Amino acid sequence: MTFKVGLLGLGTVGTGTAEILLNPEGRYPLVQEVEIARVGVRSLDKPRSVPIPSELITTDLEAIATDPEIEIVVELIGGLEPARSLILKAIAAGKHVVTANKAVIARYGDEIYTAANRAGVYVMQEAAVGGGIPIIKPLKESLGANRIARVTGIVNGTTNYILTQMTQAGADFADVLAEAQKLGYAEADPTADVDGLDAADKIAILASLAFGGRIKREDIHCEGIRQVSAADISYADKLGFGIKLLAIAQQIQSEPEIALQVRVHPTLVPKDHPLASVNGAYNAILIEGEPIGQVMFFGPGAGSGPTASAVVSDILCIVGILKSCQTAGSLNPLLGCSHQEYHSVAPLSELVTRFYARFLCGDRPGVIGHLGTYFGQNDVSLESVVQIGFQGDLAEIVVVTHNVREGNFRQAIEKIKAESGDNISIASVLRVF
Ligand code: HSE
Repeated sequence: MTFKVGLLGLGTVGTGTAEILLNPEGRYPLVQEVEIARVGVRSLDKPRSVPIPSELITTDLEAIATDPEIEIVVELIGGLEPARSLILKAIAAGKHVVTANKAVIARYGDEIYTAANRAGVYVMQEAAVGGGIPIIKPLKESLGANRIARVTGIVNGTTNYILTQMTQAGADFADVLAEAQKLGYAEADPTADVDGLDAADKIAILASLAFGGRIKREDIHCEGIRQVSAADISYADKLGFGIKLLAIAQQIQSEPEIALQVRVHPTLVPKDHPLASVNGAYNAILIEGEPIGQVMFFGPGAGSGPTASAVVSDILCIVGILKSCQTAGSLNPLLGCSHQEYHSVAPLSELVTRFYARFLCGDRPGVIGHLGTYFGQNDVSLESVVQIGFQGDLAEIVVVTHNVREGNFRQAIEKIKAESGDNISIASVLRVF
C-alpha cells in the first residue's frame, strides 16, 4: 500500500523531491511507501533530469489538485498565483498540502489555514524557511515548551552571499551582484532577495509560529542591502563587526496583549556573535526563549537537495499520521521505534584520522629521524614535524600526521615507547578533526 503524492512543479525543488522519492534506499523506510502519482509542469517539452514516466506528467495542474486518487499535493511552483488557488483547491478537495512557498504562506496564511482547519487537512511548510534547515517543526514541536522572546535569522542566502563577498573582496554591491547573477547565486531579477522581501516573508512565518499569532506582512519593516557600501563594511570591520541582513521578530510586550517588533534590515553584528560567522549562501536562525536560553539552527538555506529534504520530511510527517489512522492501535511510525536490528560498529583501529602527538626528547642528533622512521615503518605519513621549544632540558617535538589508520598509528607509538627507552617520552596524543 502506497500513499499517492501529486507534485505541482518540476523545477529545482521539484526535481530534488522526485530524486529522493525515486531513490528510497538507505533513507527512512517510510520513503518507500510514497508514490509519485502525477506531476504538473508548465511545459511538456522541457528536458527532465529525473526519470518520471511521461504518462504521469501533465500541464493540467488543477486536475492534480483535485485528483481523487491523490492524498498529498506538493506545491513547488512558487510565486503567488496560481500557487495560492491550487493550494486552496487541493484543500477543498480534502488533500493534505506540502508547500515550499513562503510568499503565499506569508501573505495568504490566514485564508489557507482557515480553509485547512475547516477541511481537516494539514498544510506543511518546513521548506518555506531556511531551505534544508529544520526550523518549522523544531519551533512548533521541540521548542513548544518555551516562552519565545526573540527570533533572529539570516534567512536569505543570496544577500548573505553578496555581503560575504563584499566583505572578503572589499567590493561594491553592484559588482558583487553582477558576479553573483553570472554564477547563478542571484536571480536575473534580484528584487525579492536584495530588497529584503524574501527575508520578510520568512520572518512573518517564523514570528507567527514563535509567538502564536498571525502577522500582517505589510506591518514588517523591510530594508534591503542595496545601500550597504564597501566603505561601511570596511569601517564596521575595523570596529569589530560584520554586516548581515537580519530578520528579527521580538516580543516587546505580553500584557494586556502580545506586541511584537518584526523587521528586516542590514545590521552590524559583533564578530564574536555566532551569527557573524554564517557566511556565503548559508542560513542560520537563532531562537531565544525561556527556559531554553539560546539555540541556533544552521545549514543550507536553499538549493535542490536541501530544500527537497525539508519537503520530503513534511510528506513523511503526513504519511506517518495517515498510516497510524488507518489501523486501530497502530503507532505513528515517526514517533514509534521502527527498527529492531543491530548495526555493527567498526573497531577504532579501523578509524582513519589525523593525529597530533607531542614528544619530549633529549635534544641530540637523530631524534627526529628516529621518530620519522617508526612512523614510516608503520605506514604513518607525517604532515608536519616541529620542535617548538624546551621543557627543562628536554626538547618538545610536535608531529601532525596525514589521514592514517588508527591501528597503524598506535603500532608506531607502541614501538616508540618500547624501543626508545628514556630518550623519548610521549607527552600527549590527540586526534585532529
Ligand atoms: N532566494 C532565497 C535565498 C532562496 O536567496 O535565500 C529560497 O528561499
